Order: sequence, then C-alpha cells, then structure tokens
Amino acid sequence: MQSSGFSEELTTDFGYKTIPLAEKTAQMDAVFRSVAEKYDLMNDLMSLGVHRLWKRLTVALSQARLGDKVLDVAGGTGDLAELFSKLVGQKGKVTLSDINTVMLQRGRDRLIDAGCTDNCQVLQANAEALPLMDDQFDCVSIAFGLRNITNKMLALQSMYRVLKPGGRLLVLEFSKPVLAPLRALYDCYSFSVIPKLGQRIANDAASYQYLVESIRRHPDQESLKLLVLSAGFDQCEYHNFSGGIVALHRAWKF
Ligand SMILES: C[S@@+](CC[C@H](N)C(=O)[O-])C[C@H]1O[C@@H](n2cnc3c(N)ncnc32)[C@H](O)[C@@H]1O
Repeated sequence: MQSSGFSEELTTDFGYKTIPLAEKTAQMDAVFRSVAEKYDLMNDLMSLGVHRLWKRLTVALSQARLGDKVLDVAGGTGDLAELFSKLVGQKGKVTLSDINTVMLQRGRDRLIDAGCTDNCQVLQANAEALPLMDDQFDCVSIAFGLRNITNKMLALQSMYRVLKPGGRLLVLEFSKPVLAPLRALYDCYSFSVIPKLGQRIANDAASYQYLVESIRRHPDQESLKLLVLSAGFDQCEYHNFSGGIVALHRAWKF
C-alpha cells in the first residue's frame, strides 16, 4: 500500500498496475465474476492437476480431525471446504466463505453435489472483516486468496481473532521458486502460456495476466512469515511445494 505524494490518494497494487485503494475490491470482484464459470477447469489446466495435490497436502497438514470447526476464507468454488467436510465428519462444521457471489454460488453447488450439506454452511463475507464471533474455529484456511485481498494485515488479524486458542491458520499461496532455473522456466510458462490459455478457455486474457502479475507482487516465503507473525500469530512455519512455486504457511494462535 502506498501514498502517491502528489494527490495524497491512497493507492495499491493490482498486478503490475497501481490503482486507487478504494477500487481494488471492486476490480477483484469483476475478475472473479468473469472467471468463475471456467475457474476449476482453468486450475486443472494451468497446474496440470497438481493444485489438487497441494490442497490435499494442506488438509493433511492442518491437524484438523473429527468434530473440528473449520473456516475456509476466500474459499471460492469450495474444493478445500469439501475435503475438510469429509475430514471433520458429521460432528464437525465447515464454513465456506468468500466475498464474491458467483464464486460462492459455485462453491455451494459443489458442496450440495458432493453431499456435504449436513456439516457445511456458506457465508458471503469480506476476509478483512469477518462477521463471526471470536475464538470459535479450530482451523482457518485460505488458499490462493490472500494475494487478492486489499488489506492483508486486516485479513490476517480477522482470521486470528476467530481462531480458538490452539487453533491453526493455513495459508496456501503462490510463492517464490527456490531454484533460479526453475524460476526462469516458471516465468516463461506463466507469462507466455497462462494469459493465452485464459483467452482460449475463459475468453479472458486480462484476468489471467492479472494472476501472473499478482503472483510476482506477492510476498515471498520469509516476508509472508513475518507478515503473519506481525498480525499476532504466535508461531509460523512454511513448507514449499513444487520447489516453492507454492508455499503453505502454517501458523498458531496460543
Ligand atoms: C484464486 S481464488 C481462490 C479460490 C479457492 N480458495 C481455491 O483455492 O481455488 C481467490 C478467491 O478470493 C476471493 N476474494 C478476493 N478478495 C476477497 C476478500 N476481500 N474477502 C474474501 N474473499 C476474497 C475471490 O472472490 C476468489 O474467490
């Protein structure tokens, strides 16, 4: 977040662009309204299905168990919520939350189709100000969502507030590949293939151009760990997946 010295208008990043802070949430909403229909297909194509493995690893490392209460923030089309629903069982509860109506409708439909209605609920909410009581979740997850949120600190503080003492936060997000050759290959793939794929499949190159740019603007592993700790979490560690293309930050509230 920056202040443009000239007009003193607050600005923020939107991919490589700098836009007025007040416009980011609306622009984000437009991106996800545009990509919602083809969102799951694009994820499978872009990652060759590997995002499913990253999400399974996230659930495996969540320490969630039967009867737990889990909140999936910016949960979109609900694949992580579905995995958690099966893990926590009938005595548990999963809340799928997102700011975007169209993404959330797709998530709700997925949960209904998967027979997860008994232990799941859907909540439309801005992650920066979750309309939920303090200290109630065993686990809060956010997958590929934090990067898109205007004020990441507010979102992290909000997630901290709703966690029980002893609860875990899981942030699954694109990060920085650890090896330079992988970084170069990944850059080449991202900038030359992904927007074209977005155009072909979702008829929207611009949203996928935003995706690759926003990944480059997102804090790397160590910077995100510092941000999580400065939001109030008592402990934070991270695991690199696929050579650091993606990282899972796991943090605790004690
Ligand atoms: C890339 S999608 C990730 C969806 C899903 N978690 C996944 O892993 O596939 C990012 C999601 O973040 C949501 N989002 C963006 N800003 C948000 C905010 N301020 N509060 C809650 N959700 C937000 C978008 O609507 C979108 O559904």
